[in-house]
Amino acid sequence: MRTVLVTGGTGYIGSHTVVELQQAGYRVVIVDDLSNSYADVVDNIEKISGQRPGFVKADLKNRAATMDLFSSAPEIEAVIHFAASKAVGESVEKPVAYYRNNIDSLLNLLEAMQKYGVNHIVFSSSCTVYGEPDQLPVDENAPIKKANSPYGNTKQICEEILRDARVPDPDLNVVSLRYFNPIGAHPSALIGELPIGVPNNLVPFITQTAIGIRKELKVFGDDYNTPDGSAIRDYINVVDLAKAHVVAIERLISEKNKAGFEIFNLGTGRGNSVFEVIKAFEKVSGKKLNYSVTGRRDGDVEQVFANTDLANRELGWKAEKSLEETLSSAWKWEQHVRTNQKN
Ligand code: NAD
Ligand code: WQD
Repeated sequence: MRTVLVTGGTGYIGSHTVVELQQAGYRVVIVDDLSNSYADVVDNIEKISGQRPGFVKADLKNRAATMDLFSSAPEIEAVIHFAASKAVGESVEKPVAYYRNNIDSLLNLLEAMQKYGVNHIVFSSSCTVYGEPDQLPVDENAPIKKANSPYGNTKQICEEILRDARVPDPDLNVVSLRYFNPIGAHPSALIGELPIGVPNNLVPFITQTAIGIRKELKVFGDDYNTPDGSAIRDYINVVDLAKAHVVAIERLISEKNKAGFEIFNLGTGRGNSVFEVIKAFEKVSGKKLNYSVTGRRDGDVEQVFANTDLANRELGWKAEKSLEETLSSAWKWEQHVRTNQKN
């Protein structure tokens, strides 16, 4: 059985990916410092897949701990690197901490991989690298725009680090996946997104409002140049997203990525407005959502959605789930969390 190290594997996207890897026949070792997730996610992964992943609690900013991880698990063949700090607003407040965490973690990982002869890495990048794109849908050749937050900048810098790291070390194989807006939860409702404190993202805010934790959703702007005036995004189901990682790992291990450094957009190719998301949520939950319109949020782009042709063609992967099914899974998850009240 092949072994994959999943950094940030108890987090939102990581946990779903661990399940998909296990179901595809991989053994998984998770490393996470639990700075933004909980240890019992490992139990819930086991409940879904019937297999307990290995779990190491360690901080990737710690170089010695990162080296130890690889020396104690020589069976690791590939890495999926999710571990990072990800809140855009917080990164403006704490830029140094964001650069420290997101850059140092990658550098330590790359040094350890080199030392222990691990050549394959999948990196979690983001559509944030495109900023406000000149053309829609946006494809992988679109110019990278100046990042509008330290968080976004860390994604650009990490992609550059990975590109440069290959120059003297062509055995290093890299796939960088640029996620659009991941939403929803596993259909079992055993794993999902657990934002700490007030959510920044739309869908957790919607589900928390519907369940009564938040009074009202504020729609950030209805004066955009879009059909209904609200901003447009490409909302992708987290299980669909997780599955793309399995394909990327298979591609790396079988050395099909001849280019050595590849970038793929992961989205649905479909843009939905904030009002469309609200309407779809109301439909699947049967609940009327309390919301009002307020001003635009600083740093928000008007619209961004993916051209996914490259991933469809090269990875043979396509997002499958509808917005309704995905919002329904998010709602089921919210209700599960509140019944088991952990957050
Ligand atoms: P998450 O916060 O749920 O998961 C990240 C995990 O990494 C957490 O469990 C956290 O405890 C862990 N972690 C953070 N720093 C660490 C460190 N130094 N050492 C060990 N573990 C550490 O976030 P997520 O939504 O699952 O995002 C995963 C990745 O995808 C991140 O790199 C994020 O930037 C990227 N991404 C996320 C989105 C999104 O909307 N969720 C969109 C684009 C890209
Ligand atoms: C979606 C839409 C908001 C909350 C962020 C990061 C991006 C990537 C994905 C990591 C926007 C509107 C939101 C609310 C609202 N993450 N909204 N009321 O901003 O597209 O992307 O997550 O890489 O880098 O920036 O996602 O879910 O915050 O917002 O009206 O309370 O919902 O204005 O149009 P965003 P989001």
